[in-house]
Amino acid sequence: MNKASIIAVIGASGTGKSSYIKGELLKRYSRLLIWSPLEETDNYASFCGGVVVKKITDLIAQIKAGTKSIVYFPKGSDKEVKTQFDRFCRCVWEVDGAHVLVEELSRVTMASWAPPAWKNLSTAGRHRGLTLIGTSQRPANIDKDFLGNCTEIRCYRVNYDTDAKVMADALGLQTDYGSGKKGAAVAIRPQKQLRDLPNFNFFHKNPDLTVGRGVNKSL
Ligand SMILES: Nc1ncnc2c1ncn2[C@@H]1O[C@H](COP(=O)(O)OP(=O)(O)OP(=O)(O)O)[C@@H](O)[C@H]1O
Ligand SMILES: [Mg+2]
Repeated sequence: MNKASIIAVIGASGTGKSSYIKGELLKRYSRLLIWSPLEETDNYASFCGGVVVKKITDLIAQIKAGTKSIVYFPKGSDKEVKTQFDRFCRCVWEVDGAHVLVEELSRVTMASWAPPAWKNLSTAGRHRGLTLIGTSQRPANIDKDFLGNCTEIRCYRVNYDTDAKVMADALGLQTDYGSGKKGAAVAIRPQKQLRDLPNFNFFHKNPDLTVGRGVNKSL
């Protein structure tokens, strides 16, 4: 229960989010439930040896059977997928102590809207001992309460000013000072720091609110 947490993993495509999740966040878990819209390429099922389900009834059956790792691969129209996501969130709420990963939140939430069951998970899931991990390439487009509720935020490069603004704010990044021509000090604003991160480089906001910079462990 003490380890329960909510972790946002943010960054443009290919910056290293899923590699970090597979390599570090999901090293240990007692039960794992993954919402995996890009399962064809992410292939979480082979990573965790999980059962892939495409219907909520099958998800419920696997949860009841006590299956350790379950990968939900959503299919259908935008509207159908959003409905499935709400149901997915309701189901995982029942699995005490599970790790729950939601890939690409911007497909199922918006800045000013999220399915009620997701709001519930991201505000109260910690009290059920859930470890919740949510990813997004475009943080400006996701439910704005989520980042505020996170115990940790890992942020790789973002490619739009709107996203950099949201993340500079969520991380509480300060202006940095580098040296320019002739050694003069140059101010590097938080948004530029986020826009200029090379692939696999990140800022990480810790539970104690300190922010560090680092590079993904090599694969
Ligand atoms: N430290 C690293 N050094 C070299 N290659 C890496 C490193 N970390 C990840 N990669 C490779 O970079 C590619 C993209 O990484 P990853 O899948 O983690 O990106 P992502 O942020 O999840 O992207 P997307 O948003 O498209 O899912 C992968 O092929 C991965 O193997
Ligand atoms: Mg990914």
